[in-house]
Amino acid sequence: EPRNSMVRGAFVVVEGVDRAGKTTQVQRLCSKLYALGHNIKTIRFPDRVSTIGQMIGSYLQNETNMDDHVVHLLFSANRWEKAKWIEETLAKGYTIICDRYYYSGMVYSAAKNNPALSLEWAKQPDIGLPKPDVVIFLDLEPWQAEQRGGYGEEKYEKRELQQRVRELYLQLLNAPGGGMKVINAGDSMDAVEERIWNEVLPWVEMVEGGTYGAKVG
Ligand code: ADP
Ligand code: TYD
Repeated sequence: EPRNSMVRGAFVVVEGVDRAGKTTQVQRLCSKLYALGHNIKTIRFPDRVSTIGQMIGSYLQNETNMDDHVVHLLFSANRWEKAKWIEETLAKGYTIICDRYYYSGMVYSAAKNNPALSLEWAKQPDIGLPKPDVVIFLDLEPWQAEQRGGYGEEKYEKRELQQRVRELYLQLLNAPGGGMKVINAGDSMDAVEERIWNEVLPWVEMVEGGTYGAKVG
């Protein structure tokens, strides 16, 4: 049971291109926080388990084709179907580490070069989702990602698309209120782990300690 039911947990998001090391680092971050006694839950998007998630999975594996808008809205709906769980879990005092969130939703759709699908359009259906306290962006150039194993069969595993995805992420970083912490994901796993730890731990302590969002006074 959470240590202090009066205070909520922190909502931490890890973003990045395919193969940036998100899965590896989410797992390491969780183990370290857990070892310190924090109550932790993890979640990843897309969540391929739900009915909507299965539709997304089948699209990503090129088993079904869908209009760009349709799949975009499914990715968003896949987050909305977890929104209440996220809020309730944070309220119970659990810190959540989330692998991809609406930033992925925006940049992958906008990277398709469909003129009807701008970053601005792509953001709309996610407005109102629970807001992360801290967002880590694992930055890796596509040629480095490719060295971690050739691209597989999934829909978005193509160099040009991955290049545009990275550029759009960097555009988001520079936008007002972007608020992502950029970490060079090309360094060793241990170095990346250390940098994430230094960014995330203060936020987790602040939010769980109830000193974040406290009123002036
Ligand atoms: P993602 O979840 O972002 O796709 P993964 O954590 O699955 O990334 O990592 C993709 C691949 O790259 C895995 O084989 C993993 O072992 C390897 N990898 C992860 N981080 C690093 C790193 N810092 N340096 C070299 N290889 C890495
Ligand atoms: P994921 O399962 O995280 O794959 P990986 O482990 O290879 O990073 O995500 C699958 C793909 O879905 C990935 O290319 C990013 C894309 N995606 C979107 O296009 N929109 C979204 O909203 C999300 C969450 C992911």
